[in-house]
Amino acid sequence: MNTSHRIFFQNAKKMKALKPGSIDLVVTSPPYPMIEMWDDVFKNMNPKVKTAFKEKNGNAAFELMHQSLDAVWDEVVRVLKNGGFACINIGDAVRTINDHFRLYPNHARILSVFHQKGLSPLPIVIWRKQTNAPNKFMGSGVLPAGAYVTLEHEYILVLRKGGKRTFDTADDRAGRQNSALFWEERNQWFSDVWMDLKGTRQDLIDKSVRKRSAAFPFELPYRLINMYSVKGDTVLDPFLGTGTTMFAAMATCRNSVGVEIDKNFLEIIDAQFGSIVGFSNNHISERLRRHEAFVKDRIQAKGPLKHTNQHYGFPVIMNQEKNLMFNPLQSAGKTGEGCFEIKYSEETEIKKSQQPEYSDESGKKRFQQLELKI
Ligand SMILES: C[S@@+](CC[C@H](N)C(=O)[O-])C[C@H]1O[C@@H](n2cnc3c(N)ncnc32)[C@H](O)[C@@H]1O
Repeated sequence: MNTSHRIFFQNAKKMKALKPGSIDLVVTSPPYPMIEMWDDVFKNMNPKVKTAFKEKNGNAAFELMHQSLDAVWDEVVRVLKNGGFACINIGDAVRTINDHFRLYPNHARILSVFHQKGLSPLPIVIWRKQTNAPNKFMGSGVLPAGAYVTLEHEYILVLRKGGKRTFDTADDRAGRQNSALFWEERNQWFSDVWMDLKGTRQDLIDKSVRKRSAAFPFELPYRLINMYSVKGDTVLDPFLGTGTTMFAAMATCRNSVGVEIDKNFLEIIDAQFGSIVGFSNNHISERLRRHEAFVKDRIQAKGPLKHTNQHYGFPVIMNQEKNLMFNPLQSAGKTGEGCFEIKYSEETEIKKSQQPEYSDESGKKRFQQLELKI
């Protein structure tokens, strides 16, 4: 099995290269309106944003910024298949303009636009992030009626185009079963509050790059891709940034398309790509190891499990987990600028040769640090 991955460095408001109904899943995080680090991006897209700030008109700036995103959401709706999902990570903003402090509810604005465009909103995930920010006590401190609660969460909006996806052929159904999650993962991942993801898994990029680029942790798109698509599907991220969604697609046997306005990200993406085989295969090993630990505890507490996974031979809770299998990455190659191809093994065993592949010394170091933690 192979997957292909392609990045377009352009504005996502017109994704001409993508045909209508060609995408199974969108996983993305746009620049956040009214968060200062993104002001210039919005001002460049629409100079009226600059005027709104000059006139100290927060409402107008908020609306104009969202209008730039609306153009991308139009494209998302166009390229999604019927039955396909869009998962959008977004945080609200708080800001003082003209001495007036208030919340700018980005998630509500985006949700209502998708609703107007005819997509069905599904239950939202709240991503709980602990902050140690100095604004933890906003407003009048311990004095009542003038203090504000601290924003310590973001949202993952989940939307569906059209009705439920169907799996009509025997191959479709087999592919779906092969892409199943473990029962215990399902319980955690389909919960509507995700506690801080930072500590859960390693990331391909270091903390400072992640912060500067506002990248989400690898675990976030990784879960969403596993939850809302099957192997062989195509995942789009119209705000690709450092490529986290694309790497999660590589690790999960999905194809991907990324769109990013800033070409400077290519260097970071190329550097991370050097570690993708070892990184993904370790992720797979870690999932398997966690499942085996879970099964051991479960059997000790409640006795033997009813079902056995046919690829790994270990016990599983549900019949639906019987055909679950992770394909180890075999090799990763560049086929052009911003174009990548991954080859997968059909065997469960992760061979030595499928372990680390480094493009440079820093990739090797990152991988070794990762190995120590596992
Ligand atoms: C919040 S960041 C996404 C970070 C990404 N999820 C990651 O893990 O690295 C938003 C990205 O969207 C890009 N961007 C902003 N406006 C855009 C547009 N109109 N079209 C394409 N990309 C855009 C920015 O350059 C930035 O990299």
